[in-house]
Amino acid sequence: MAKDLLLTYCKALVQLRPQAEAPVYGREMAELPMLENAWLLIREGLIHSYGSIDQEPPPCDNQLNISGRMVFPSFVDSHTHLVFAATREAEFVDRINGLSYEEIAKRGGGILNSARHMAQASEEELFEQAWQRLQEVIATGTGAIEIKSGYGLSTDSELKMLRVIKEIRKSSPIPVKATFLGAHAFPSQYKNDHEGYIKEIITQMIPQIAKEGLADYCDVFCDRGFFSPEETDRILKAALDHGLKPRLHANELGHTGGVQVGVNRKAVSIDHLEYLSSEEIELLKNSPCIPTGLPGTAFFLGIPYPDARAMMAANLPLALASDYNPGSCPSGNMPFVLSLACLRMKMTPEEAINATTLNTACALEIQQQYGSISPGKVANLWISKPIGSIARIPYSFGSNLVDQVILNGEVYKA
Ligand code: NIG
Ligand code: FE
Repeated sequence: MAKDLLLTYCKALVQLRPQAEAPVYGREMAELPMLENAWLLIREGLIHSYGSIDQEPPPCDNQLNISGRMVFPSFVDSHTHLVFAATREAEFVDRINGLSYEEIAKRGGGILNSARHMAQASEEELFEQAWQRLQEVIATGTGAIEIKSGYGLSTDSELKMLRVIKEIRKSSPIPVKATFLGAHAFPSQYKNDHEGYIKEIITQMIPQIAKEGLADYCDVFCDRGFFSPEETDRILKAALDHGLKPRLHANELGHTGGVQVGVNRKAVSIDHLEYLSSEEIELLKNSPCIPTGLPGTAFFLGIPYPDARAMMAANLPLALASDYNPGSCPSGNMPFVLSLACLRMKMTPEEAINATTLNTACALEIQQQYGSISPGKVANLWISKPIGSIARIPYSFGSNLVDQVILNGEVYKA
């Protein structure tokens, strides 16, 4: 068990909420509670208490003076594809030369390219690579993460991916939620037999995954050229029957019916939403689903950004995650997500931080333990370099302003 740790002379404690077990809704996202010139006591790995420096902190023989620097709750990255066998920089060059993401996918590249590499990779290799990526994102402030399968596209390969995610979860210093995404693309052998693949998902993959307890959620890529709303609905229903809650990739490539299916099936989150009509916003307003933007993907693919201002004006609890994956966003850098949110989605730094901490914690249903500096929550935090204001984080895009990472109450060294 970690020793007590007292952080003293903190320039500010950011996202400080006595109680925080619900998402922050659109119009309230502009407010980010902070306490300046403060101390923070961590006990047995949990946030214990805090106060202003005029108040005497409880005695503690393990103190860290962090003067000039701010304390943030770790980012919660609620959407990643961290386990993959190979990068896809050749397709990146193809796109520079004029091909679109969809054209590359139609030629058998994209997700199918990743699936070919996945079929050849051993669990050990996959674990090793994903572990390195996990360390990389922890160093940039991520303190809880979701990881999807979806590069297997066969029962054996999907189970292999999910077992690797399970191993990561066992050894990881941060919590890991696992999502089954067998419905990420139709594998080439089922190109002309979609029904055959859907049957394999429903009758083989889902029951086996549920039996082995390999996933918390089931996701589907419901979009043009991928899974139709009807196909998505059947898969989500089968998953629900086996205790896997739904989440969704929807409206990345167009208005393709995913929002309607996700809302009907009470998806925990609906992610992407680069295309979103006012009718779809209305549907989201009447549901508990957390709409999640992935601005790194819009940046990398050069597609429109989700309309954050419209979602917040409708009082939706907007969340933002990385989508770290080899095809459409080869980065899990959450400070860069903040920069894109501010620069490209016109979110204020306060809104962007709410979206990447408490709201993503809600999107992973871990808001009782993570997502804010609140007494009783796990002490997963990051300490900035000396900065004058929180706006400095998104402003200095590409700079690493994460000085130290604290996980489970201890300074983390990879
Ligand atoms: O979230 N949109 C679908 N899936 C991933 C990309 C997967 C890939 O190209 O490898 C995404 O963007
Ligand atoms: Fe994704």
